Amino acid sequence: GLKKKEVNVLCLGLDNSGKTTIINQLKPSNTQTQDIVPTIGFNIEKFKSSSLSFTVFDMSGQSRYRNLWEHYYKESHAIIFVIDSGDKLRMVVAKEELDTLLNHQDMCSRRMPVLLFANKSDLREAMSSNIKDKPWHICASNAVKGEGLQEGVDWLQDHIR
Ligand code: GTP
Ligand code: MG
Repeated sequence: GLKKKEVNVLCLGLDNSGKTTIINQLKPSNTQTQDIVPTIGFNIEKFKSSSLSFTVFDMSGQSRYRNLWEHYYKESHAIIFVIDSGDKLRMVVAKEELDTLLNHQDMCSRRMPVLLFANKSDLREAMSSNIKDKPWHICASNAVKGEGLQEGVDWLQDHIR
């Protein structure tokens, strides 16, 4: 068959939002892990969709590691940003991190697709970030059950170029 196009995706969001759980669900079942622990630094994972071969940088969301994120913007084709819909206290922190990301010089004037997972429940109203110059999409997801994830990957596949 045809070789799938290789793309790099950066998975960002606060610690405990569910990034590693989401990526784990998207991996082939024989490579999925049962025990997910807080990410230290970052991990590199791979999964495929029907036409793309994804290399995902699953970054730690802990504050002490967030300064690593910006080093990977340039080589990424898309961003997955995960929000813990239940973490009302830190919603403002998540929004600040998203704004900082979108305003970074390596992100400006790039048509990089941004996929938001409102993970752990539905957060459509609460997500007020404005992304005007990039294609973006938000999915409600439950990473423990694997719900809402395929919709997100299908969207990414259609918007990466
Ligand atoms: P860091 O690596 O520290 O940045 O965290 P992370 O964003 O990778 O979060 P992780 O995937 O480790 O998940 C944190 C916790 O949230 C785990 O206990 C998961 O089981 C739980 N979790 C993830 N997704 C969901 C979800 O959709 N619903 C519920 N209820 N729990 C979830
Ligand atoms: Mg993690």
